[in-house]
Amino acid sequence: MTAHRKLVAGNWKMNGLQAALSEVRAMVEGAASIPGVDLAICPPATLVNAVKAELGSSAIGLGGQDCHAEKSGAYTGDISAEMLADAGAGYVIVGHSERRAGHAETDAVVAAKASAAYRAGLIPIICVGESLEQRDRGETLAVIAAQLAGSVPDQAADRTTVIAYEPIWAIGTGRTPTTAQVAEVHQAMVETLSSRFGGAAKGIRLLYGGSVKPENAHELMHVEGVDGALVGGASLMAADFLRIAAACA
Ligand code: 13P
Repeated sequence: MTAHRKLVAGNWKMNGLQAALSEVRAMVEGAASIPGVDLAICPPATLVNAVKAELGSSAIGLGGQDCHAEKSGAYTGDISAEMLADAGAGYVIVGHSERRAGHAETDAVVAAKASAAYRAGLIPIICVGESLEQRDRGETLAVIAAQLAGSVPDQAADRTTVIAYEPIWAIGTGRTPTTAQVAEVHQAMVETLSSRFGGAAKGIRLLYGGSVKPENAHELMHVEGVDGALVGGASLMAADFLRIAAACA
């Protein structure tokens, strides 16, 4: 699973007003000179349409940050995968730790959302990651294996899928795992997915996320088994996001 074109996806979380579209414009301009790396922006739902318009014919992808498992219905405030696809998205993040923690999303819920993404023709970016307590107790690999088993649907075998390893303690903290720790988890994910999906697992891209910045991107993006990054804070400014992308090239 290592010989992939890298993907750098920006998760804007609950950030971004219309004024942020100027950053998208700068990303489109800058991305043209960074060949060989796939880029995607996951803005808040209110900006998906507007970002789509800014992207125009750019190769930069567009994603949502969450979706409901159902196609439509009485789910006030929710957005379906079909709605995201209709608005021009090609990706959707599911199971981010902020949703697992803040919205009580279980592995089963995350798997249902990932299945909804496939149904709508979207590529799910399925997030997994351990807490600091779990790491300190030596449970990291077991936690990740359990999350992969519960959150990655069987259809992943024949669909395009992205998985992001985001240690919770590295998100928004400026702390990052060592390259050895990232390599250990990514290698374990490769083994877990290979034993479940066989050769089909080779198609799954494995991103690292958690405090990826221009300063550490080159080191993190060249760890064995890392196929790109899921970037939070540093994806809000075009200059930082593009420097991270350039570090993958
Ligand atoms: P930061 O890059 O801000 O640490 O966020 C990582 C993240 O949660 C991306 O989904």
